[in-house]
Amino acid sequence: MRSPRVNAKRHVMAQDTTTYRPQVAPAAAPKPRARATKRQYVRFAFYTIDPQWRRLPAERQKQHKLELVEIIESFNRRMLLRPYSLMGTRADIELLLWQVAESLEPIQELATAILSTSIGGYLRLSASYLSQTKRSIYEIRDNPDEDIERLIISPSDAKYLFVYPFIKTRPWYRLPLDERQAIMDEHIRIGRKYPAVKLNTTYSFGLDDQEFVVAFETDEPSDFLDLVQELRDTESSMYTLRDTPLYSCIRMTLAESLDALGGPKIAKPRQAEEYVEAWAEVAAVEDIAEGMARVVYLNGQQVALFHVGGRFYAISNRCSHARGPLSEGELSLSDEACIVTCPWHFAQFDLETGKVVDGVASAPVPTYQVEVRDGVVYVGTKPPVQLSQADATSR
Ligand code: FES
Repeated sequence: MRSPRVNAKRHVMAQDTTTYRPQVAPAAAPKPRARATKRQYVRFAFYTIDPQWRRLPAERQKQHKLELVEIIESFNRRMLLRPYSLMGTRADIELLLWQVAESLEPIQELATAILSTSIGGYLRLSASYLSQTKRSIYEIRDNPDEDIERLIISPSDAKYLFVYPFIKTRPWYRLPLDERQAIMDEHIRIGRKYPAVKLNTTYSFGLDDQEFVVAFETDEPSDFLDLVQELRDTESSMYTLRDTPLYSCIRMTLAESLDALGGPKIAKPRQAEEYVEAWAEVAAVEDIAEGMARVVYLNGQQVALFHVGGRFYAISNRCSHARGPLSEGELSLSDEACIVTCPWHFAQFDLETGKVVDGVASAPVPTYQVEVRDGVVYVGTKPPVQLSQADATSR
């Protein structure tokens, strides 16, 4: 039921939800990178541990893990190594080592070194995909540099990685290039709607059984799900022969990913993450009329920016109930508060605090700092605040 206090307020419709790509503030801007021409080799090696290993004495398990960490980390200077855990996301795979190197030799030597360790006899290589970086033959019209950037794998800090091998149908390759380009334009346009999802496309023609290996990095698995579902409606999807199995991977340190296999812990407890302030210039004041809202981006996250009651407010655009778009919600303003009502199931949130005021949502939504300087609106992260249970809602 909606709060009578809120229903009594003056209502303003938030209608302008135009997507706007901000200039990220200098502190958060990516560093310019040298243009590379050399391709990289990429391997996704998925392992499972033999159940017999879990019955070994704890001290041996610990020694096995420490030995494996030492061996794998000795390759760090020769290749990029990213460990991920798949415990709990798949029944048949438990560990991923994402490897990137300038040649095949370190990849081959690492595989041998891993199998030569004490735990190597218990590790089963359940799946392996080999590929290379390569420039796309398709034009990426809104960011021509992306084509070159693809030659170097630069993983982000995203918590999740979604990987799958990919094969197109042979009729795809019979289409004229301009037809394929038009189909890819639609594909790229939809991908741009999900800036929190970063795609790494690598090529396997002649190197391995698949044609491509695609790896999506994100902190928002729901965005990846929505993206994949939306891409099913495109014409390019008609030319997909195979895009499974799909591996949902969780980023961890190597020690943590081995601890996830079982046995005594070897990972050191994590320190509290350091807060790094980030700001983005997101709009000109006159771009957002009183009573309107707009979606802007900060650190790859969707932020709903509202202009109401002579003030700007910024909160996450994703409702904490089922990710409804809060920028499309109805606003109500009073002397005490400014409230947005989610358009999907009508949960209500205080724009100042992000707390739930009424409705089905049970968790607050993140809020952001807003500053207006010289007619420009800036949105910034807030230092993390520990909310108590009682504090999470104001009901
Ligand atoms: S998605 Fe917002 S209330 Fe359900």
